[in-house]
Amino acid sequence: MAQSNLYSRVIGTGSYLPADRVTNQDLADRLARQGVETSDEWIVARTGIHARHFAAPDQTTSELALHASRQAIEAAGIDPESIDLIIVATSTPDFVFPSTACLLQNKLGIKNGGAAFDIQAVCSGFAYAVATADSFIRGGMNRTALVVGAETFSRILDFNDRTTCVLFGDGAGAVILQASDEPGVLSSALHADGSHSSILCTPGNVNKGVIEGSAFLHMDGQAVFKLAVKVLEKVAVEALEKARLTAGDIDWLIPHQANIRIMESTAKKLHVPLERMVVTVGEHGNTSAASIPLALDVAVRDGRIKRGQHVLIEGVGGGFTWGASVIRY
Ligand SMILES: CC(C)(COP(=O)(O)OP(=O)(O)OC[C@H]1O[C@@H](n2cnc3c(N)ncnc32)[C@H](O)[C@@H]1OP(=O)(O)O)[C@@H](O)C(=O)NCCC(=O)NCCS
Repeated sequence: MAQSNLYSRVIGTGSYLPADRVTNQDLADRLARQGVETSDEWIVARTGIHARHFAAPDQTTSELALHASRQAIEAAGIDPESIDLIIVATSTPDFVFPSTACLLQNKLGIKNGGAAFDIQAVCSGFAYAVATADSFIRGGMNRTALVVGAETFSRILDFNDRTTCVLFGDGAGAVILQASDEPGVLSSALHADGSHSSILCTPGNVNKGVIEGSAFLHMDGQAVFKLAVKVLEKVAVEALEKARLTAGDIDWLIPHQANIRIMESTAKKLHVPLERMVVTVGEHGNTSAASIPLALDVAVRDGRIKRGQHVLIEGVGGGFTWGASVIRY
């Protein structure tokens, strides 16, 4: 049995956005051509989103993950062969199977036979993946994990439904977590309540070679809004208590980037000043499982997040699922 480790620590981050940047006006123009009316003013006022990126028709989730992972590996300065665990959080995998994580392992040329699997917790996926990788590492099962959130949500958007198609974008973010004696992930909390599965879902499945049900994303926006605000505050407090910290100890809050109104409301409830919240939703839209690692990488690379600082990540999404981690960076 491998020796258990004290902590898992973030030793590198990376991210990737597809080249096609679509502003609200671009999207409004595209939608108008098919008789769907929206506007930059409406989208900005209700969500804080100004633009999002869409993957090219031949770009897969594993490809976005590959770009983000290469950056994270480079930032960590490690040999890819030392990665003995790959977890990809995604709800838009390349295939039903094999998992996107296995495809990513192959694309990275890793031949060491380490574990690789996907996590499906929709927009909470990255929080779930961090908590899982941290547990595996602290338990001594693995030493170096590549943890990725990657999505091509544009593939499951119904561009005739203006209440959802303006909200989401594509992208990927990645972190390398490694066993360490120094503090890294301090605490995590994960939750789910399947009784709310119908308020945010893509309820299609493959049956006898055809898709049965709808393969488009469906959402009751107001129900999601109310639940998200409630559980995000609760799970943040829970993770802070587990880490024996208070909101005053948090240098950076990185909530799932769904909607600026949900994010600001959570920050206010936690008494975290808005200037200590990392906000990328304006430029990325909601990239589901990719949104937290994308925002983390942006704030690491622009120098805001420094070594030794406390970062609180928290996600909420379909399932319904929610989760948080307190990380000493
Ligand atoms: C989706 C959301 C932005 C909608 O905002 P809202 O204030 O609840 O708006 P409503 O759904 O009440 O719609 C208000 C009006 O805007 C219209 N509208 C909806 N989408 C529109 C769009 N893209 N452009 C223009 N008008 C739009 C509606 O048809 C409605 O018109 P009506 O009053 O004539 O019926 C909001 O509910 C929300 O942010 N929910 C959470 C979504 C989320 O974050 N999901 C992911 C969580 S992981």
